[in-house]
Amino acid sequence: MKIISKLYVFDHPLIQHKLTYIRDVRTGTKEFRELVQEVAMLMAYEITRDLPVMDVTVQTPVAEAKTQVLAGKKLGVVPILRAGLGMVDGVMKLIPAAKVGHIGLYRDPVTLQPVEYYSKLPNDVAERDLIVIDPMLATGGSAAAAITFLKNQGARSIRLMCLIAAPEGVQTVQTAHPDVDIYVAAVDERLNEHGYIVQGLGDAGDRLFGTQ
Ligand code: PRP
Ligand code: URA
Repeated sequence: MKIISKLYVFDHPLIQHKLTYIRDVRTGTKEFRELVQEVAMLMAYEITRDLPVMDVTVQTPVAEAKTQVLAGKKLGVVPILRAGLGMVDGVMKLIPAAKVGHIGLYRDPVTLQPVEYYSKLPNDVAERDLIVIDPMLATGGSAAAAITFLKNQGARSIRLMCLIAAPEGVQTVQTAHPDVDIYVAAVDERLNEHGYIVQGLGDAGDRLFGTQ
């Protein structure tokens, strides 16, 4: 068991550029949704760097080429509803063979505690490398609860991928789940008195789905 999980901040210029427009209050729902998908895809590209490959040989029109393909590791993507749904298509564009599990959690607006309302997972979570996705890691309560739920279902390999984290959320997840590495595009300043990330992007679910 690791003492503390690792925190990776993706500083790729394309990710940072797109995140700027995601944050911008003037960005409308359609563009917001597209940008979240694009950043999720770029983050998936980074997070899959360590996937195992195996050697193969193919015949090109010119010669035989010794090359590589993915070694067939079983992956799972687990969005936390609702806002995590906004990242699914971007991730699945890169890893279409992954299975998708869903965990429905909302944060009680008064207590800020996560409330679970839905779950549907692949039946072989124990054999899959899971990536939990959610745009926002605020208090960390939702992510920590989702990861606990997955572990109770038998999951053994879990990573967490979010667009924006607050330091408080990173600490909560690292304390509760020291075996779960965290991948984000930015770590912001703090939480405000309503539990929103400052500077953040506002309410991710509302901005994705046009609700208020
Ligand atoms: C948001 C967000 C995370 C959670 C983060 O979801 O998508 O799931 O808040 O907050 P936390 O780290 O303090 O738990 P929300 O509860 O607003 O639900 P929604 O996705 O359905 O809008
Ligand atoms: N959930 C959001 O959607 N945004 C925040 O800033 C915090 C929690």
